[in-house]
Order: sequence, then C-alpha cells, then structure tokens
Amino acid sequence: MKLTGIIGGTGMTRLDGLTITRRQAVMTPYGAPSSELVQGTLHGIEWVFLARHGDPHTIPPHRINYRANVWAMHHYGVDRLIAVAAVGGISPEAAPGNIVVPDQLIDYTFDRVQTFHDGTETPVTHIDFTHPYSSTVRHALLTAARAAQVEVVDYGVYGCTQGPRLETRAEIRRLQQDGCTLVGMTGMPEAALARELDIPYACCAVVANWAAGLAGEAEISMDEIHANLLTGMQRFQRVLQHLAYATETPAG
Ligand code: HPA
Repeated sequence: MKLTGIIGGTGMTRLDGLTITRRQAVMTPYGAPSSELVQGTLHGIEWVFLARHGDPHTIPPHRINYRANVWAMHHYGVDRLIAVAAVGGISPEAAPGNIVVPDQLIDYTFDRVQTFHDGTETPVTHIDFTHPYSSTVRHALLTAARAAQVEVVDYGVYGCTQGPRLETRAEIRRLQQDGCTLVGMTGMPEAALARELDIPYACCAVVANWAAGLAGEAEISMDEIHANLLTGMQRFQRVLQHLAYATETPAG
C-alpha cells in the first residue's frame, strides 16, 4: 500500500482534513519522535503525519530528534516523505507566501547528529548526496502545484542555519554569496537521514518572510511570519489535493 509521510514544520502542527485512523506514540532506538504519528486518509489516499516541532509547537530546531522522526517514518513504511518547512526568502522569486521546491542545500548547522551510523558497531557509511532531494518527489510536488494553479518556484538552494535565532544581515549576505536562495533551520540533518534510509524525500518550503536585511531596514516581525505562513499553508493544502490525485492515477 502507498503511504506518504509528511513532516510538518512551523505553521503546520496537524494535517487539516485528515480522517484519522490511527494515532501512535512510537518509540525508536534513537528516542521519541517530536510528536505522535497520525495516520489517516485524505483525498482518498493514506498519509502519516508528524509535527516536527511537537504538538503544541515547543521543540526548537536544534533540539529536534531528527533521527527518531525519520526512523519512525521509515518504520511506518512510507514510500515518500515530504518535508514542509518555513523559510526566509533570499532570492527575488522567494517572496513571502510563496512555495519553493528546492533542488539543493548547504548545511551550516553544527552539533546535530548527522547520521544513523555513528556507533563503532556499524561500518562507516558515506551516502551519496550530490542531489539531496528525490527528483521523483520533487516532480510530484511541482506537477501537483501546477495542477492546483499554485505558483511554485521549481528550484532553490536551501541554506540550513543552526537557529533558533534568525540571521544577521551579514550572515544573509554571506549565504547569498554562497548561492543560497532560501534560509531555514530544519532542513538538515533531516534530508541526509532520509537518504541513509533510502526514503525518497523532498522539501516543500513555504516562505514566511524576507531574510534578514532584504526588506530594507525593517526587522522581521513574528506577526508577519505568521500571516505569510497562513497564506503559504493554504496554498500547500491545495497542492496536496492534486498530489493525492496524481498518486492514485499514474500517468499512461
Ligand atoms: N531564517 C531562518 N529560518 C527561518 C526564517 C529565516 O528568516 N524564516 C522562517 N524560518
């Protein structure tokens, strides 16, 4: 049976409209995931949802147990995993409220456990990470967004910072020079852990604000972030309807 996993970020602590069939507090070899896993049907297919920051939203990005979250999704047998993530926009296309499906990332985090293979009892493992996101899942998201007539930016470089504070203007300038078009705090090590477990994984980034210093002298306000996330999440819900349809009706 097909099962799509969704890890919801800031602005998405539950999957609206889901007809819940199971709700389970999973324990993993790496500890407890951020929230219960909530399984159910929506638009005629099966989903399992996990709230990355907990429900209610209490776990900051650097304290998330990424290994437990990804392992739990794998344990449930998801055949694809969609990471919904609030980000700051750096490139002009990444305007607040927009949806971006990045194709690359740069990791600026530190002190986060990056691998399932960090013990002495397992062989040293180096995954290929040339293309950090699954082209199949990205394609499904982009096709669904177009079908839903939701404008979507079909590329992007996600710069993952440590948080929980937002960045300085100089840090954003540096990220810009590095080629980042988005900035967020939770993209890594989640993407790498999904790759270690061979779960096709892509990110659906919802732009919450212009990154620091890119809206003139203005500081970033939490009210602005919440308002833009509301718009972006409503757009994402429309994308989901068509993602479900595409899964049910394979091309050809
Ligand atoms: N920076 C980092 N993470 C974020 C931002 C930001 O500006 N907005 C939402 N998540």
